[in-house]
Formats: sequence, structure tokens, C-alpha cells
Amino acid sequence: MKWLIDELKRIKREHLYRKLRILETGQVSRVSVGGRQLLMLSSNNYLGLTEHPLVKMAAVDAVEKYGTGSGGSRLVTGTNDLYMSLEKILADFKGVERCLVFSAGYLANIACLTSFMKKGDVILSDSLNHASIIDGCRLSGADVKVYAHRNMGHLRSLLKESAQYQHRLIVTDGVFSMDGDLAPLPEIVELSEDFDAAVMVDDAHATGVFGKKRSGTVEHFGMHDKIDIQMGTLSKALGSMGGYVAGREELIEYLINTARPFIFTTALPPAAVGAAIAAIKVVQQEDPAKKLWKNVREYTTSLNNGGLSLATNSQIIPISIGSEDATCAVADKLFERGLYATAIRPPSVPKGEERIRTTLMSTHSRQYVHTAADIILETLGECKLL
Ligand SMILES: Cc1ncc(COP(=O)(O)O)c(C=O)c1O
Repeated sequence: MKWLIDELKRIKREHLYRKLRILETGQVSRVSVGGRQLLMLSSNNYLGLTEHPLVKMAAVDAVEKYGTGSGGSRLVTGTNDLYMSLEKILADFKGVERCLVFSAGYLANIACLTSFMKKGDVILSDSLNHASIIDGCRLSGADVKVYAHRNMGHLRSLLKESAQYQHRLIVTDGVFSMDGDLAPLPEIVELSEDFDAAVMVDDAHATGVFGKKRSGTVEHFGMHDKIDIQMGTLSKALGSMGGYVAGREELIEYLINTARPFIFTTALPPAAVGAAIAAIKVVQQEDPAKKLWKNVREYTTSLNNGGLSLATNSQIIPISIGSEDATCAVADKLFERGLYATAIRPPSVPKGEERIRTTLMSTHSRQYVHTAADIILETLGECKLL
């Protein structure tokens, strides 16, 4: 396996080497690394729910009642009633007939794309969709046509060329994970109706954050009855673990009967299920996203006043740098100054679009938000990137 060593050397030479950084805390707004305190500006724990007392208590209660593991796949070992409660509360939250929970959002995407789409079908996929969508497309056996990011003219022309396929599916992130911008769902739905295509939305980064009820971009755009498949994750704003698919009764029954990532893997542990149920209730009763949005506005205003030009589309705010070595250098300097903000490089983003992906949390104080913005501006200035 000497070729692995050579390959690792190449990855290092090209500034693409990834290392695990060890935290001595959970995903809190001030984390500890090697005994140093840093402001966390890279977590997907957008609402701080991993630390919410009710969410933690629900996880502990679930362990007390159901134990630590689920013992196997739900079809083989049985499904406990906690699972059914989560799927009911999620379906109500999403405004759909039914929901099915998977052990990860990654698996939920693979499940949908491989179960619904086959050879002879076509998937139309935004160029910046998440890796789990890309992998699901590859595994499905369907033809895949990638449209330029949010480019509805391009999507229209690809749909026009797709009349010969048996089934057409348009798939998009609701909020794009590395760019923080939103899919134009109303326009996508209009095209889907013109060309008889189904629509699937991955709301991993929107659930808990977007819409009046905070159920995601589908609600935000008022598209409830127009989206065939709503997918999401419990692992980001909801502070737990697992993924889900929401939609019509028959869609869920079809997944239970055909989706290999559902059938052939062990179900989530009770603690994760209990925590997710409590997290949805906290979203509904306390609306922590209100504070998150306040932080988003304060942060972007502060950075824009300092010379950047950033949009406030979502809680994901990328700072464009544009080369691997410069992005790593900026991330290292931010770290030295007490800010945990990760360098994002290929294959997570295309070459030339390297960036620092910053994300806000509702548990950041106003002062944290301003301190973080000041550190970023100082660092970019020092690196001659302002
Ligand atoms: C857009 C998107 N979809 C799906 C996933 C996968 O979700 P999970 O982390 O629950 O596997 C992610 C997570 O990274 C994501 O960003």
C-alpha cells in the first residue's frame, strides 16, 4: 500500500490535508482546544440545542426507559414507540402525512435517490448540492444532469431535453451547505409542473431556522403541497443525530419496503430519538432561531461595515478566499487569535472557491458576534485580503 503514502504526500503538498482537531468541550459557543478557549464559529449546532436542558434530559430519560442501543434494524428487531412519536411529531412539524427516520441524513438522501430513481430515469441536480445527494445520484443508476447553481434557464433547457426518460426528479438543497444561499423553490416548482418532474428538497440546514414555524425552506416559500420529497437531518439545528424523509403515506411505505439504507442498518439509539423529539418541541415553544437571526444581522452588518460585501441569506456565511494555501493561512491565524473557523477546500467546494465557512449560533452573545467579526476583519487585513 505504498501508493497510499505517496497519495497522502500529494494531498499535503496541495494543502488539502485534513486533520482532526480535538475539543475538550461539546458544541458550545466557546469551545476548549488544548486548554485554550476559542469562539466557535463553525458549528452546525445552530440553535445550541445539544446543550439545552430539556433536550439533554429527554436523551437521559430515553436511555433510562429504552437502554443505550436499538438492537438492530427496525424491520427485524421491532420499532419502539419513541420512534413512532418522533415520526408523528416530525410529520406534523413538516405539514405532511408521514415521516421516516434514518440513522443519518446522508443515508436518507442515498435512500431516496436509490429507491425512487433507476436506470431509464433522470435526476436534475444543482451543481452545489451536498455530497450525499451526489453519491445518491451516482448509486441510483439513473442518468444525472447537473444544472448550474440556481440557474433556472439551465434547468429549463435540461428538462426540455429529458422528455424521453420514464421519470424526472429535480433535487436541490434548500439552503446550500457551503454557500448559505437558498434554492429558488417557487421557480423550481413551476418548472417541475411544466415538465412533469418530481421535486426533492434537502432541508438539512433550514430545519429549525426558516419559516414561521421554523420547519424549513418549503414552509418559508409556502410550497407545502408542491414538494414531493422533503428530506432533512436531526443532526444540525435539532442537536441530535439522524435523518428523515417527509411526504405522502405511499412515499414512506415505498421507502420502508425498498430503501437499503433503511432496511440494512441498525436504527438510531433511543437517546438520539428522545433528544430529537424534545428539540422539535423547544423549536416550537421557544423559537431559538429568533436570536440566531438577530446574530446573523449583527454579524454581517459588522463585517460589511469593515469592508466585506456579504449577504444575509442564512446562518451560513462563507468568507471567500480563493486558494488552498491562503485559506489555510487565514484559518490558522484566526485560530491563533481565538476563533474556531474552518478552512473549506476541495472536494467540499470547487477549486478556486476555497473559503472560511462561518456559521452563527443562537447561543452566541452580541459581544461574541462583534468580537468574532473584529477578529476576522483584522486577520483579513493582515493577510491583505480586505
Ligand atoms: C445539505 C446536507 N444534506 C445532508 C447532510 C447529511 O446529514 P447528516 O450529517 O445527518 O448525515 C448534510 C450534512 O453534512 C448536509 O449539509
